Amino acid sequence: MTAQHSDALVFFGATGDLAYKKVFPALLAMVARDALDVLIIGVAKSELSQEEFVARARDSVTHATKEAGAPFDEAAFAKLVQRLSYVAGDYNAKDTYERLKRALDGAKSPLFYLAIPPELFETVVGGLHDAGCVDGARVVLEKPFGRDLASARKLNATLHRVFPETSIFRIDHYLGKEAVLNLLYFRFANTFLPPIWNHDYIESVQITMAESFGVEGRGAFYDGVGAIRDVMQNHLLQVIALLTMEAPTPGRPMSSSDEKVRVFQAMRPVGPNDVVRGQYAGYRGTDGVKPDSDIETFVALRLFIDTPRWQGVPFYIRAGKKLPVTSTEVLVDLKAPKSVFDEIEPPESNYFRFRLSPDVLIAEGARVKTPGETMRGERVELVARYHPVRAKAPYERLLGDAMRGDNALFISDEAVEAAWSVVDGALSHETPVIPYQPGTWGPDEANGIMRGAEAWHEPLAEASEPS
Ligand code: BG6
Repeated sequence: MTAQHSDALVFFGATGDLAYKKVFPALLAMVARDALDVLIIGVAKSELSQEEFVARARDSVTHATKEAGAPFDEAAFAKLVQRLSYVAGDYNAKDTYERLKRALDGAKSPLFYLAIPPELFETVVGGLHDAGCVDGARVVLEKPFGRDLASARKLNATLHRVFPETSIFRIDHYLGKEAVLNLLYFRFANTFLPPIWNHDYIESVQITMAESFGVEGRGAFYDGVGAIRDVMQNHLLQVIALLTMEAPTPGRPMSSSDEKVRVFQAMRPVGPNDVVRGQYAGYRGTDGVKPDSDIETFVALRLFIDTPRWQGVPFYIRAGKKLPVTSTEVLVDLKAPKSVFDEIEPPESNYFRFRLSPDVLIAEGARVKTPGETMRGERVELVARYHPVRAKAPYERLLGDAMRGDNALFISDEAVEAAWSVVDGALSHETPVIPYQPGTWGPDEANGIMRGAEAWHEPLAEASEPS
């Protein structure tokens, strides 16, 4: 039986940073493709008139189209405005939900998208329930889903009292990215990879998610969250899961949730020696940030996966704001070949480099003989790069999926809890937050979680051209 298409889209947090940067552009793109022909209602606290709300939407999509170097689609924007309305109200006030219900105008299966901080989820879900808005509805919840394992469990229990799991969509926009989904595809669509994708051949795996910008404009949100909850528990653990999980069911590659849960459950909980937290100088002066905040804007973690496949392979993951570049890369370092040529040390031998943003690239490090009389070589990179032809932006893709009731790319209750269990230790044992200078790769202590001669791989701002 095909699921019913949602007949209205309501987004809470309509005046927030996420709505401005991602939601309005996604809605416009969906309308432009004729994929969103329903009522669209924004909800937030600010008292805005319809005109002011529309002006904000215009500003958002103007900004996004400029950044994308695309022309502004006036016709699509006019269609979006016809469907768009705004409900102002306090999330704690009953009256907000009653007005929302009236604005829904008899919609039978609305989608409620909670683009708001996690501490408000229960309040909003309760308000929707009490106003009689939840029957036949779906709910999309932004990350982070809770603050830790205990609060995620509580939140799951609260949601399950109101919605069946099939109507709950825990969003992680990384799962809407082509380059991230490609990790799973590349692993299982190429004969040469499965035989070597294990501890016999892999020395270590690194992921760096570097951002050169800070938290300006969202200090109040960020200061209640920090890098572990903002990107590690969700985006980067999802990337690791796609890199390490066993094969999904043949014929149903997208239904990988059970395999992800297994791999999260096999991750050794992070201990105090596996984590380094940092904070860039100047962070405490940001609007909305506490003057004595010890929230991390940088984190480096070491993880191990206790399965036969991954025994002893370290996974090093780091993420930070105000680093030298904006770039996310995975580096899978292969062991050096046995004997014959004793000049070779990892990572000078073989590796796979997956660049997830800003552009998309897969590279393989290989060695070739340097011309000359000795049998010595040098490293070259074999580069496969692809330019997606107008790939849908992650929010456009994922909101479309949720409207159709397709939850394959969303996080299940079990998976979200299993992911929290991995990082819970890093949140609770309160490692000190070490200052670092903007424009550097974070505190030097981050090198201390690596073994011997290992070093962090530094992605470039632009992928190097194939030589
Ligand atoms: C968001 C985080 O989920 O992801 C941000 O809250 C981060 O802090 C962003 O900057 C990165 O996403 P993308 O798609 O720009 O790499």
